[in-house]
Amino acid sequence: MAVEPGPDVLDAFEAAKGFMPVKEGLALYAAAAEAAALGLPLLEVGTYCGRSTILLADAARAAGVSVITVDHHRGSEEQQPGWDYHDPATVDPELGRMDTLPTFRRTLHRAGLEDHVIAVVGRSPQVAAVWRTPVGLVFIDGGHTDEHANADYEGWAPHVAEGGLLVIHDVFPDPVDEWTGQAPYRIYLRALESGAFTEVSATDSLRVLRRTGAGSLRRD
Ligand SMILES: C[S@@+](CC[C@H](N)C(=O)[O-])C[C@H]1O[C@@H](n2cnc3c(N)ncnc32)[C@H](O)[C@@H]1O
Repeated sequence: MAVEPGPDVLDAFEAAKGFMPVKEGLALYAAAAEAAALGLPLLEVGTYCGRSTILLADAARAAGVSVITVDHHRGSEEQQPGWDYHDPATVDPELGRMDTLPTFRRTLHRAGLEDHVIAVVGRSPQVAAVWRTPVGLVFIDGGHTDEHANADYEGWAPHVAEGGLLVIHDVFPDPVDEWTGQAPYRIYLRALESGAFTEVSATDSLRVLRRTGAGSLRRD
């Protein structure tokens, strides 16, 4: 039976702002719990307000590892004012720009999980460029343009340790299902075609792949 978060953690997840449905969250949690058993950190691209981070952090806490979560906290294209996924409460009134960091910090504090998370505020490709540590899991839930999704894949997939997991959110094989585009689907295909990853599970738009070889992870 898949390992699940306790009721307090599930309540905190459901109460948090964000975009992940419970069914996908439970699949993410099971992957995180499995990967954390490798004794390596878990890495998330796309913190937003911490909804998925809660689940990663609880799995990490149980295994005695940390979560690194990366976000510039200025929001993705589809979260900007005027777009469907915009939440006016995430706008810093002084700067007039989105800033999800304060909400994220409150969310994590209320969930009692601050000690298990290292929040990195910055652009994913810049952080990946200086990253040197193998990780047990990479969860890609960042920008939805091809530019951003490809940069996330190219920057972070090589850091998944052998036996570790690459989890990709918002994978929609049918273009009618996803108006923000199919870039996550295209990086999922790249991961499979690289020879480095093998699919483990699919739960709605969440795909879990295992690192099963060296493969070819850089664009030619
Ligand atoms: C879909 S949201 C993440 C949702 C979150 N995982 C959850 O469960 O609610 C995408 C996040 O990626 C961040 N983002 C987009 N492109 C980024 C980039 N190039 N570097 C860092 N963060 C980025 C945005 O600021 C946004 O907070």
